[in-house]
Amino acid sequence: MIAKIINGTKIALKIQNKIKKKIHKRKKNGLFQPGLAVVFVGNNISSKIYVKNKKIACKKVGIISKICRLSISVTEKKIIHTIKNFNSDPTIHGILIQLPLPKKFDTQKILRKISYKKDVDGFHPFNIGLLCQRNPRLRACTPLGIMNLLKSYQIKIKGLNALIIGASNIVGRPMMLELLLAGCTTTIAHKFTKNLNQYVKNADLIVIAIGKPNFLHGKWIKKGAIIIDVGINRLKNGQIVGDADFNSNYLRASYITPVPGGVGPMTVTSLLQNTLYICENYYDKKF
Ligand code: GUN
Repeated sequence: MIAKIINGTKIALKIQNKIKKKIHKRKKNGLFQPGLAVVFVGNNISSKIYVKNKKIACKKVGIISKICRLSISVTEKKIIHTIKNFNSDPTIHGILIQLPLPKKFDTQKILRKISYKKDVDGFHPFNIGLLCQRNPRLRACTPLGIMNLLKSYQIKIKGLNALIIGASNIVGRPMMLELLLAGCTTTIAHKFTKNLNQYVKNADLIVIAIGKPNFLHGKWIKKGAIIIDVGINRLKNGQIVGDADFNSNYLRASYITPVPGGVGPMTVTSLLQNTLYICENYYDKKF
């Protein structure tokens, strides 16, 4: 079997064009332009690239972005003060703290300071709680992007055995809730999981997000499994690869996301989608 390659770049572009049209229409109708604030603390090289990409994507669709760069020596108090200012800024509708924060900070405490209404990442306990209770509003960007990809390719997932490898707050945990909501039987594997290959063998759908280059080999997977690769790893030779070994999985899976060009472009698209969602649902009219 040879897998169908899921083209994230193409789908992301389609969704971005829809967002752009909607924002253009808003402006024509006298409605305000959406605004996104990104708080970036420190100097993480990958984060720098991600933040730059977010800024470019915002500009493309007509979202105003404000990037607030803070040095690694900033105090927690100052970060919280910055968030509070954005919470009360009427030109800002979405707020994002670029993760990871430098280790000395209490990430959860800081993230909770973002108003749940401006929580464009969907990480606030209120938003995660709503997803958990089958009533999602703001949804974490990477899992939402993956759900949009599956929908775009009309892949039916109800009843599938879904395995999520990686239990992070950013991807694995909200991904599990999304797939559960979509009717999958979900399992999360993590660094303490024993006999991972037993779970892999049984999975119809695998989402892998562990940051280990080419970790998942195709010979482990069930024939016809759907492979969604969230990993973005740079090898010493400069090549960018995912967490799943593409070539071996390609020969056994039914669908596979490439790296780059699979999940990555969808994550930033979800961010734009969430910013617009906030405007339409919280600020254009009241819930
Ligand atoms: N770092 C890596 N992925 C993400 C994400 O989805 N949101 C934020 N805020 N930081 C990230």
